[in-house]
Amino acid sequence: MMKRTHTCGELTAKAEGTSVVLNGWVHTVRLHGQIIFVDLRDRYGKTQLVFDSQHFQGDLNITKKLSVEDVLSVSGTVQLRGEQAVNPQMATGEIEVMVASMEILNEAEPLPFVITDREAALEDLRLKYRYLELRTVDLQSTLAVRHRAAQVVRHYLDKENFFEIETPVLMKSTPEGARDYLVPSRIHKGKFYALPQSPQTYKQLLMISGFDRYFQIVKCFRDEDLRADRQPEFTQIDIEMSFVDEADVQAVAEGLTREIFNSILDVHLPEKFPVMTFERAMDTYGSDKPDLRYELPLIDLKVYTDQSDFNAFKSVKMVKGLVVPNGSAYSRKIIDGLTEFVKPFGARGLAWMKVDNGSLTGGISKFFGSNLQDRLIRELSLPDGSIIFLIGDAKRVAQTAMGALRTEIARRENLASPNEFKPCWVVDMPMFEWDEGDSRYVAVHHPFTSPKLEDLPKMATAPDQVYSRGYDLVINGYEVAGGSIRIHQRDIQQQVFQHLGISDEEAQKKFGFLLEALRYGAPPHGGIAFGFDRLVMLLCRTANIRDVIAFPKTTSASSLMDESPSEVSQRQLDELGIGIVRKDTSNI
Ligand code: AMO
Repeated sequence: MMKRTHTCGELTAKAEGTSVVLNGWVHTVRLHGQIIFVDLRDRYGKTQLVFDSQHFQGDLNITKKLSVEDVLSVSGTVQLRGEQAVNPQMATGEIEVMVASMEILNEAEPLPFVITDREAALEDLRLKYRYLELRTVDLQSTLAVRHRAAQVVRHYLDKENFFEIETPVLMKSTPEGARDYLVPSRIHKGKFYALPQSPQTYKQLLMISGFDRYFQIVKCFRDEDLRADRQPEFTQIDIEMSFVDEADVQAVAEGLTREIFNSILDVHLPEKFPVMTFERAMDTYGSDKPDLRYELPLIDLKVYTDQSDFNAFKSVKMVKGLVVPNGSAYSRKIIDGLTEFVKPFGARGLAWMKVDNGSLTGGISKFFGSNLQDRLIRELSLPDGSIIFLIGDAKRVAQTAMGALRTEIARRENLASPNEFKPCWVVDMPMFEWDEGDSRYVAVHHPFTSPKLEDLPKMATAPDQVYSRGYDLVINGYEVAGGSIRIHQRDIQQQVFQHLGISDEEAQKKFGFLLEALRYGAPPHGGIAFGFDRLVMLLCRTANIRDVIAFPKTTSASSLMDESPSEVSQRQLDELGIGIVRKDTSNI
């Protein structure tokens, strides 16, 4: 094989006259009579090759049979393109390589889809041939961003005195709220390892070991319902620090985030990120991960609806409203579509009124007398031509459904600029949340998160009013990172387990090692974990997490390329002592 002297992305006019060897894939072939033009591509770019009978030492007919994605090695001389042929869009656009000899290193069969037009193929087909999709410019560049972001993280945290320490992948289950992926043990039949939902317990143990500042870029595994920003295996930048409070951890996380956006996008984020309480985020934006690129605040309308004749809202706890300027142009069909949109978020309907010539029209406006209409328009400064949407329900339902509508309206109206990045901290989350299904309290963050010390006395009497020392970092509507100050006292940890309905015996069985470790000089500590994939999504301005992972799973957690998960042989099952029970589902 003739080995390359240069990549396909680096030759410029300065190299005129140089003899070069290039290796790469055939991107395009164009025949111009007796001259053949080939764009040769590799990770670094494309270079135009020219074959003609005067310079090419082999049989020119062979080159006419080249097809896209064949792998070539060519030698030749760099020459300037004719003025007409210069392509200022290409880094190598001033030159071409006049080929003297060519070796076909491998031929490609016709491809299942055209890799220059990725969007033309269905995603399932692209995922089946992921290694081909990875040749596309889009994915080559997202993975380049991912690589660079990982290097920035390592460099920054090393400079800040953090140690990168690996923790086990085969471990005991830790509760992060999702189901575990289990791995059966052959040696201990009937026993299972769990794949880490996060290295939470290990990083706390490392603090107890005195490592003081730890980080890891680490795979985490969660068997949960998947969405556009969730994968069953994903990557965290996991961080833990000793002798710190919330401000110290947040300062490191802000510094790291600033450094990443600065080095990769040349975007300068603020020195201090704004801080918002969980209650304010829910009340004003209807979400614990508000997108602050646009305002569009939710407003409280209960005081007005209570004075109207619209009875459906009289008995509800909260009426949330959203004003869309220029929304009076929304047709019945659009409004019906938005009504369907809010239903999965628990709303029973979507009421509306339009503002026209200083009065309210349409929807439920007939239930509002003219005085009340005047007050509403004046006090809320409702502009002519706007529409006001209303949802009345229990507090969290009204907030969440209206929050979802806020995001949907912003999408429809193009209110969010892809080039703007608005970080904020969401703090003061409740410590516990009542789980209707399980009829018990569950931890909003995870059970190792410290309650606010001043709320400790309320743990027994009013668990709803206990707030945690947790914090989430939100950027443009994504929860990019979450963390907390931890419990480092054994008795408080036991109390929290009790509130979560975890008995002493169960706590001992599940986390005995951690409770034990808390006896031997555990320093105050806290940390945070970034969703690395989500961070890269933001850097690449994509809403699809699969765009930033080399070999992702589908939303049903399977890999279409290697067809995992798959059945295993009876011998493997026997070795593990596992029998498969196949339920007859034909009657379901
Ligand atoms: P948490 O569960 O909030 O905290 O996870 C931290 C961050 O990881 C990302 N993330 C995900 N990304 C892709 N797919 C998923 N399925 C997924 N689940 C979570 C999010 C989230 O903010 N041990 C704690 C951290 C700590 O307390 O230090 C933890 O894992 O961006």
